[in-house]
Amino acid sequence: MDIFERIAANRGPLGSHSHYAHGYFTFPKLEGEVNPRMIFRGKEVLTWSLNNYLGLANHPEVRKVDAEAAAEFGMAVPMGARIMSGNSNYHEKLEADLADFIKKPDVLLLNFGYQGVVSIIDALVSRHDVIVYDAESHACIIDGVRLHQGKRFVYPHNDMASLEKQLERAKRMTDETGGGILVITEGVFGMSGNLGKLREVVALKEKFEFRLFVDDAHGFGTMGETGAGTGEFLGVQDGIDIYFSTFAKSMASIGAFVGGPESVIEYLRYNMRSQIFAKSLPMPLTVGAIKRLELLRTQPELKENLWTVVRALQSGLREKGFNIGTTESPVTPVLLNGQIPDATQLTFDLRENYGIFCSIVVYPVVPKDVIMLRLIPTASHTLEDVKQTIAAFEAVAAKLDKGLYSKQPATA
Ligand SMILES: Cc1ncc(COP(=O)(O)O)c(C=O)c1O
Repeated sequence: MDIFERIAANRGPLGSHSHYAHGYFTFPKLEGEVNPRMIFRGKEVLTWSLNNYLGLANHPEVRKVDAEAAAEFGMAVPMGARIMSGNSNYHEKLEADLADFIKKPDVLLLNFGYQGVVSIIDALVSRHDVIVYDAESHACIIDGVRLHQGKRFVYPHNDMASLEKQLERAKRMTDETGGGILVITEGVFGMSGNLGKLREVVALKEKFEFRLFVDDAHGFGTMGETGAGTGEFLGVQDGIDIYFSTFAKSMASIGAFVGGPESVIEYLRYNMRSQIFAKSLPMPLTVGAIKRLELLRTQPELKENLWTVVRALQSGLREKGFNIGTTESPVTPVLLNGQIPDATQLTFDLRENYGIFCSIVVYPVVPKDVIMLRLIPTASHTLEDVKQTIAAFEAVAAKLDKGLYSKQPATA
């Protein structure tokens, strides 16, 4: 079959909805300053879909440094990959600051989180090694694992008994091949808000020899006393061998980093294909990240404000009988029963009639009869925003229960 014909016949699980969803449910345009209140199709909405956890996107000091760095350096500098001609004192300072903050001996900056994780996994393992990973891992982990030429074993999400079984299998295999074992999980799972069971995973190091790689995209800046992440929160930062986070969430920017022992980071510096064969992180993003990290470290009230909103939102939703799953982090899923047409009608109603904008997650990410509305609280939201949102959710959930939404997908 011709490739283009197959693509025309099968648009993929998300693409199959594009004919009615595009521009509204998918690829919506939020305009105006990054804030809880933004403009969607000409109307103001209260938005809960931006990973701007600490509100740094619009912090005056951040905006000032971003603008000054863009004026001073432009977007082109530094030219080239870091290994060739794209290194700078700023890149090295940011790495040193991050290493100091996450309490790891060394850190390597990455241009993007997604391709960074794929490439870290690719660089770390050889075909004699075995990867053991959580089934609900982010797509970048799954894609990194796909590149692995050796064995990989998956365990059901956070199922420690199964992880132990997979480690036994992995050990039998590596005893034969002479390879090692890499366990991969997340600090905070971005859909459910669950924490990875890092204490339990680290405890398994007493029984098995393995290295632990944690993607803490949603935990960095939001979890732990200083904001250093889920490892700090659970008291097991030392047990995490390779710690990763992106700048795309709490840092409200682009870029990412990986921290670990000096020898391993040095190895990644010289062996990660996504960094060696790609241009360096532009200077404004690097200088801007130094400022963001400084604010993250010196303004604990940002994280405190975030958690005040998180607690009010999550306890308020639970009190009204909403199922928000088992989240232990700011990520707040609201799980309703219904099919995709109900989900679109309800989301349309929420946006158009209640002015609430949140992300809608449907099959295949969640089971067929589940609608997940995903709320991301930030330090910039207010308790008034929380009240307005819970009231709107009560109203639309009541309509859903009464079957008032039509069985056709909503179209804008
Ligand atoms: C768990 C996790 N890992 C990695 C990434 C990718 O990071 P980036 O946006 O920097 O590519 C994301 C999303 O942004 C994520 O949620």
